[in-house]
Amino acid sequence: MDQIAKALVAPGKGILAADESSGTIKKRFDSIGVESVEENRRAYREMLFTTSGAEAAISGVILYDETLRQSASDGTPFAKLLQDKGIIPGIKVDMGAKPLAGSPDEKVTEGLDGLRERAGEYYQLGARFAKWRAVITINGDEHPSDACISTNAHALARYAALCQEAQLVPIVEPEVLMDGDHDIDRCAEVTEAVLAETYAQLRIQGVRLEASLLKPNMVLSGTDCPTQAGVDEVARRTVEVLKRCVPAAVPGIVFLSGGQSDLLATEHLNAMNALGETLPWKLSFSYGRALQAAALKAWGGNAGNVPAAQAAFLLRARCNGAAAAGGWSQDMEKAA
Ligand code: 13P
Repeated sequence: MDQIAKALVAPGKGILAADESSGTIKKRFDSIGVESVEENRRAYREMLFTTSGAEAAISGVILYDETLRQSASDGTPFAKLLQDKGIIPGIKVDMGAKPLAGSPDEKVTEGLDGLRERAGEYYQLGARFAKWRAVITINGDEHPSDACISTNAHALARYAALCQEAQLVPIVEPEVLMDGDHDIDRCAEVTEAVLAETYAQLRIQGVRLEASLLKPNMVLSGTDCPTQAGVDEVARRTVEVLKRCVPAAVPGIVFLSGGQSDLLATEHLNAMNALGETLPWKLSFSYGRALQAAALKAWGGNAGNVPAAQAAFLLRARCNGAAAAGGWSQDMEKAA
């Protein structure tokens, strides 16, 4: 498992999050006017996974349960297709964020019941790593509550321990949402509290950090905050919080994009890696929207658009691969 975790953050590589649940992929397909039926979902994922050359920047792909059981049009199971390209298949194992009892405006992620059995089956199907996303909302000084932070951290650690038992590398994802009018200081404060509690729980529950990855939000101004922190400040503040909270035994930190534009997600990652600091972990990406948005639009549900969609995906993969090494430049964006 240690080797898998390291391989997922190999130099210049990161992860494609293509694990949208049925509800989330329907929202994405609605935005391009495509019906979310199984064959369209399969065809869309096949377009992404067969993009020639993406393997130079993509170390792993997170799949949804349905996708891990699907195959390419030539009958090759997706897990095998990815493995043959040197890409590690992963699996989303959480069952979604539900209202937190006692604080229904907040969320706690469910999916622990039966996880031991499911994790074993996913390994048999070819998955070698897993993902569980916790959702933390900022609302003034009131939210997140201590209850929200601690129940989510506890669940993340239970998930991580169960996955390691099944030889799956757990990606631990506590996402502090960008939504809200809070400033970057408040995002930093909440992110630090969430990460500190998460690592306390991982320690209590005996999770092997060398065989895990962290998938956090970046430290950003809330979407509706009138003053938006610039790229350099985001990079500096994010790295500052991570240094305070994430043990050096963790091999890599792979950010989510969380609703940032494609370009900003790339610029922020690049700026962190270009700070010139010696850090104990790799800083890379595990983007969903920021890797797929342009490709989804170019595809539009039309098989004839596959080459254009793959070109759009390859460009984002390459730019983020370069950002993971601090070597991205604006010129790369024109290389399409
Ligand atoms: P975004 O990059 O679109 O936030 O998705 C990443 C992810 O996997 C969220 O769980």
